[in-house]
Amino acid sequence: MTQTIVLTGAGSGIGRALARRLADRGDRLVLVARDAGRAADAAQEFPGATTLVADLARPETIEAALAAAELPATVDAIVHAAGVVDLGPVAALPLAAWTSQLNVNLISPAELTRHLLPAVRAARGQVLFVNSGAGVAAHPDWAAYGASKHGLKALADALRGEEARHGVRVTTVYPGRTATPMQARVHEQEGRDYEPDAWIDAESVVTGILTALDLPRDAVITDLSIKPGPR
Ligand SMILES: NC(=O)c1ccc[n+]([C@@H]2O[C@H](COP(=O)([O-])OP(=O)(O)OC[C@H]3O[C@@H](n4cnc5c(N)ncnc54)[C@H](OP(=O)(O)O)[C@@H]3O)[C@@H](O)[C@H]2O)c1
Repeated sequence: MTQTIVLTGAGSGIGRALARRLADRGDRLVLVARDAGRAADAAQEFPGATTLVADLARPETIEAALAAAELPATVDAIVHAAGVVDLGPVAALPLAAWTSQLNVNLISPAELTRHLLPAVRAARGQVLFVNSGAGVAAHPDWAAYGASKHGLKALADALRGEEARHGVRVTTVYPGRTATPMQARVHEQEGRDYEPDAWIDAESVVTGILTALDLPRDAVITDLSIKPGPR
């Protein structure tokens, strides 16, 4: 059955690969892009998709962005795939790095979810958060990103309990290192050579996400951890 999916992060990496698979199977997409230029790119790549401009680094603008958009009355799933990472030790991490990661990775997913929940409830739909291994264990240099993703797990767990009575299912997917532009940037920040073949293919993460989205309603995948397989 055709579904209506609201997706962040469809311009790159995991979100882009997911948008491609959903579009290819005929689902209706509402793509959240950071600015008009990126929305135009998304509209060109995914004809038929609705685009909506919201800069997730500025959660205070989301309410007005949604009010200005023509949104569907029912939403089968929101997939929060957008994210940013900025590594550094707590001793040196500037305020802006904390703010941007918490805004994009945690506060905006909460704000977007809040405003879209009536449409998700109307569809007895799903909310899926793309988290990270860093949402379960925080290592040196990963404090801000890890805090944002630990917070995202808390958001998902609380939301799952709150929304069960509305028939809304909530899933967190925790990918390990995945070969995307974000992972290339992480390697740059770590001062390491980047070999995409060493890491998970974004398509494999997408297969995990689709498994959760497509699961029959008698069950929910609450947490799905996806690690690089043995090579
Ligand atoms: N790659 C990994 O190893 C890995 C591992 C675990 C978890 N994850 C998580 O998986 C998700 C997808 O990551 P990825 O690797 O696919 O990253 P990516 O290739 O860098 O893509 C990130 C997406 O987020 C969007 N985004 C960033 N800031 C935004 C903002 N202010 N407003 C709106 N959109 C914004 C980007 O928009 P633009 O296209 O406009 O730049 C891009 O489409 C993230 O939540 C990430 O934390 C990734």
